[in-house]
Amino acid sequence: MERNEFLRLLGTAGIAVCAGCSLESCSSSSDPAPSGNPGPSGIDFTLDLTAPANTALNSDGGFVYNSGVIVVCLSASLKVYTAVSQACTHQGTTIGFDAANGNFLCPAHGSRFSTNGAVVNGPAATSLRKFNTSLTGTNLRVFA
Ligand code: FES
Repeated sequence: MERNEFLRLLGTAGIAVCAGCSLESCSSSSDPAPSGNPGPSGIDFTLDLTAPANTALNSDGGFVYNSGVIVVCLSASLKVYTAVSQACTHQGTTIGFDAANGNFLCPAHGSRFSTNGAVVNGPAATSLRKFNTSLTGTNLRVFA
């Protein structure tokens, strides 16, 4: 992870922890979505972080796919998550999360996207759609 990306993640974490949280174990992310790919529509689902299928979301860099969205745990200790459309905007390949570099990576042709879905490097020219996340207890809601 590069220094700038690390500092940006810390800034996001600070905002998520401070903004709108009055209960324990609560965080949210509502960074403005970059313009670009509309991504899947009608997204509004909740993931139970205690369910075996979602255990990856309890570790830094862990991720799961659901309903055309990739959901990533950016910081387990700070309860910071991000969610973007999982289809690469270049040719639709399913992206993954590269925890070592702190960004999304498309295995087909190497496009990279920031944690808010913006293109870091191509060939993709259009950002991924970013979705909101909100944690209440152990339930992580992902929504448009
Ligand atoms: S399909 Fe993702 S970079 Fe080409």
